[in-house]
Amino acid sequence: MTSDELIARQRKGYSLEQDFYCSEEIFQQDIKRVISQKWLLVDHVSRIPEKGDYFLFEIANESIIIIRQNENTINGFFNVCRHRGSLICLQPEGNKKLLSCPYHAWTYGLDGALRQPPLMPADFDKSKFGLQKCHIKVCYGLIFVCLSNDSPPEFDKEYEEFAEVLDFHGLKDAKIAVKRDYPTAANWKLVVENFIECYHCAAAHPEYTHVHPKDQLLAMGAGPGSGPPDALKKYQATWDAWKEKAETLGHPTPEVIRDEASIDMAQLARLPINDRNFEAETKDGKRACNILMGQFNECDHGETAIQFNPIGYILASNDVAMMVRFTPRDATNTDVQFTWLVDGNAKETIDYDPDNVAWLWDVTTKQDKIIIENNFSGILSSRYRPGPYSTQEARVSTFIKWYLKELDNKPAL
Ligand code: FES
Ligand SMILES: [Fe+2]
Repeated sequence: MTSDELIARQRKGYSLEQDFYCSEEIFQQDIKRVISQKWLLVDHVSRIPEKGDYFLFEIANESIIIIRQNENTINGFFNVCRHRGSLICLQPEGNKKLLSCPYHAWTYGLDGALRQPPLMPADFDKSKFGLQKCHIKVCYGLIFVCLSNDSPPEFDKEYEEFAEVLDFHGLKDAKIAVKRDYPTAANWKLVVENFIECYHCAAAHPEYTHVHPKDQLLAMGAGPGSGPPDALKKYQATWDAWKEKAETLGHPTPEVIRDEASIDMAQLARLPINDRNFEAETKDGKRACNILMGQFNECDHGETAIQFNPIGYILASNDVAMMVRFTPRDATNTDVQFTWLVDGNAKETIDYDPDNVAWLWDVTTKQDKIIIENNFSGILSSRYRPGPYSTQEARVSTFIKWYLKELDNKPAL
């Protein structure tokens, strides 16, 4: 069945047909039509502080070298030699003075320009064989790339409403406290679906439900728009009262919720962690880092939830900001990476303990990995049939509509 036929027969309000989760052909279309057309959150600038520091961002068939050229410039290059196509960087991260291909030693500068290779014909024009650039954007210390061969989507305008909060959290002056990977044997859409609903929270996540109260989890446990409208209505007074307090401290409380018609389903909200004055998402509610980030002088007991698109998020309390990255590798595997940021002046052991910083989402993501992989295994069965969503899976339903709309686009790549 073609993707057009599959899209046409998809039942509204139901999980996707099996092929959307398993087919390699659909996966390739996901990458071309959906993923490659977005700005993807890949990491934080503090991962590559020195000239020549680099890491690889690997997604589907692409390997992108993210490398620091100098203090002010970070470049993104496709990790493909312009001679006969070998990978150039083989290690996932490191430092390079020059980018030298391991096959026949064609060598490129940190700006991607080719140095003169030996024994090429006299009319060889090296200026035409620089590394292929990948669109890159550095914003408040966050590094984004876009794989598209065409112009990337507008960034500044798209995320204009996020600027105040990203700035307030001091992300550009942050540093990586801890980074953890949770490779998940499932299609990327199942990872997204799991992250944007809290229908499973009560049964699966005792730690998460310890930190967050029931009424909040029901109303918006996976962000605004994830719960039933009547639950949000009940919770609204608590949320509004907290917002008022945060605003008296001078803290921003903007709200963005974009639906399936948008290009990225972006959202932004600030809300209280709970009604027990928790300062952070820790076991005892005490902050995980002694130094508050950015412009938070006094703790507002809140958290910030940002969705740039369905595969890139920031969740931040006043002391720690967590980057969440879901990276499709093939139809059946997704790299899940969490990176916790703290203030750039914070010192490990003295100001924070990485295990404490990572505690809640580390335990929660390990639980989710199992759930998602079980979900995928079940979907592979000959007896899998799409099933109906509950009212607490509203954001998943929106995601499915968004995904089908995006897949129906046929941009040139
Ligand atoms: S393929 Fe890179 S130098 Fe030949
Ligand atoms: Fe979960």
